[in-house]
Amino acid sequence: MALTELLNIKYPIIQGSMAAISKHELVAAVSNAGGLGVLTSVGFTPDSLRQELGELRYLTKKPFGVNLMLQQPNINDLLPVLITNHVPVVFTGAGTPAPFMDSLLNAGIKVIPVIPNVKIAQKMAEIGATAVVAEGMESGGHIGTETTMTLVPQVVNAVDIPVIAGGGIANGQTIAAALAMGAAGVQMGTVFLAAEETPISDYYKKLIVAAKDTDTTVTGSGANRVRSLKTPMIEKVLELTQQHAEPEKIAALTDHSLAKAIDGDVVNGSFMAGQIAGVVDAIKPAAQIVEELWRDAMIELTTTSRTWLP
Ligand SMILES: Cc1cc2nc3c(=O)[nH]c(=O)nc-3n(C[C@H](O)[C@H](O)[C@H](O)COP(=O)(O)O)c2cc1C
Repeated sequence: MALTELLNIKYPIIQGSMAAISKHELVAAVSNAGGLGVLTSVGFTPDSLRQELGELRYLTKKPFGVNLMLQQPNINDLLPVLITNHVPVVFTGAGTPAPFMDSLLNAGIKVIPVIPNVKIAQKMAEIGATAVVAEGMESGGHIGTETTMTLVPQVVNAVDIPVIAGGGIANGQTIAAALAMGAAGVQMGTVFLAAEETPISDYYKKLIVAAKDTDTTVTGSGANRVRSLKTPMIEKVLELTQQHAEPEKIAALTDHSLAKAIDGDVVNGSFMAGQIAGVVDAIKPAAQIVEELWRDAMIELTTTSRTWLP
């Protein structure tokens, strides 16, 4: 079944959840435009999440998703809110949704885990996931170790559920490439950082628009690898890491640094973004982003302007 039919959306375009960023304004704008907006639940209490869902449903009658980052300490408190509010889709990350998979599926909620490799994709398919997002390390925020180009086709070949490609996708060419690799749809974060509705400082948006292909880097290790724009603060973190500085010294710089970026703190913010930021060249309404992305992908798939092709 096509992803659009499965999720009841017009375009197989998903706005990936962004911690403390993808709130009701952006999510509603993407869903109203025919994609699937995904609400962050990072930083929410059951009450504030209920309120946020109310605001979202006031702005859109279309399907949307909610993200559960499984490192969040209050997952067990947020789950009943998702179930009683009949949220259409839950996206999970940073852990396994196995303990509550059945309760979500039994409530009629579709579950789409974000996965970093084939083994975890297969495990998720076994426990009943509706689809998976195969996300490569090109992406912004917390990243895995594999690239989108290598991960997506291998996951597509390994599971019988739809695979959504994420990481390094932000224009017609990259969407067309993902579909050519067998993806049923695409998930994007970085391109939506530059949406008018995204509730982050203008400074953050302008940094995304100004970024070039080589302007991101990765800090942290293991499950805590994070891709951000190379700013003096991030360069300092890399320097301290190289010097094997005490973790507390590094944490003093990185703690709450995304929140600082959201607020436009030029010096202390960590401006998380993906490698594809280089193709994002303007701040636009989310609806325009969605429409143009799909239009350009269709042009890429149906015409060829590459004169060197045989
Ligand atoms: C600032 C930022 C914050 C993010 N926060 C989350 C998150 O809380 N949960 C999650 O599953 N993915 C998160 N992501 C990943 C996105 O949902 C999406 O999968 C990713 O951005 C896709 O790659 P791209 O950045 O190349 O478009 C975040 C990405 C960014 C850029």
